[in-house]
Amino acid sequence: MSEGLHTATEAQVNVFTPEELLARRDHVEPLVANGVRCHGGFDSAGAYFSPRTLHRLPAIAAWQARLAADGHSLVDLDRSLLPPQYPNEDQAILLMREGITEPIVRAVTVISIVEGFGAIIRDVRVPDLRALLVEPVEGTALAHLDQGLFEAHARDEAGYRDEGGHKQMWEAARDLAFDNPKIPGDVLMRIMGRRGRNGARERRFPQIDEKLERMAATMAQVYVIEVFAERIFEWGKAVLGHDDVSAHPKEAADMVSFIQADEKPHVEYLRTALSELAARTVRTEDGGTIPGRWLVHGYLHGILDQMIRSRPEDQRGETGDALDDALQGHASADSIRQAFEGLARDWTPPERTGFELELDRAK
Ligand SMILES: [Fe+2]
Ligand SMILES: [Fe+2]
Repeated sequence: MSEGLHTATEAQVNVFTPEELLARRDHVEPLVANGVRCHGGFDSAGAYFSPRTLHRLPAIAAWQARLAADGHSLVDLDRSLLPPQYPNEDQAILLMREGITEPIVRAVTVISIVEGFGAIIRDVRVPDLRALLVEPVEGTALAHLDQGLFEAHARDEAGYRDEGGHKQMWEAARDLAFDNPKIPGDVLMRIMGRRGRNGARERRFPQIDEKLERMAATMAQVYVIEVFAERIFEWGKAVLGHDDVSAHPKEAADMVSFIQADEKPHVEYLRTALSELAARTVRTEDGGTIPGRWLVHGYLHGILDQMIRSRPEDQRGETGDALDDALQGHASADSIRQAFEGLARDWTPPERTGFELELDRAK
């Protein structure tokens, strides 16, 4: 057993039921986004609070405290790895000033659809971690993934029953900023077309349980996406909240900031569970073991290395065609294009992801 990992009895205080992890705080006023009842709400002072956080946030804090007390650190991504949003804030505002809104409406619609895809997290299968890991998992985030954490995450992203989630909140932010614009009909189709080109994922650790590997890989991927989203929120607030170009700057920017606040528990539970896994020992199918760090850092490195290179290009693909179409036949197409390109800022992905060392050891 790794030094410092707590015993089952010590951990019992950090055990929660799914009902607790899904429980909401009482609100005075619900969040209604452009006519759609959404999750979350406002307290008596008018401050927004996120859905399903009554016990979830304190639980995550307790698991993190336990991890720290055991002498383990939380995984973290260097923020210099975050690729810029395309088109960038200044470029988006320029287009909107010129009345060329379709590419930006499209970009925000892509964001709303991708948020809705987040619901797939509830389909991640959690294997028997007690059998597959050498150290105990009682009282950890790992032990609660299928006990409310994945379900809460899925509901936050895609909405639940008659309550909207992030998908509907981004749609509301878009519709507020652009005053109920016409939505291009082919957004989802184009996303699916691009996604279809990504082939099946190869197994990096064929010596361990396949379900465990798949779970770790998906969590690492979703964690990276959640952290990268920080850029999207800053972009959303700056563009949809811009006084000159947004129809309802304050309401639209507020909506984006509510979504941003709701992402905190996602980032935190994912990095807690990944760190707990990294701190443990994984049994291999042939009776041996490998350090959990190999698995967690190996996947984080692989995903980051690929995403920091492909994401800027993917985003260009998603909105670049729409920009070409929008400029076609525009009386000032050339000067707008020139101004647009003049606002571009070069970005080179960093040389290192910060997770290389463990990958080398895993070879
Ligand atoms: Fe979200
Ligand atoms: Fe999220």
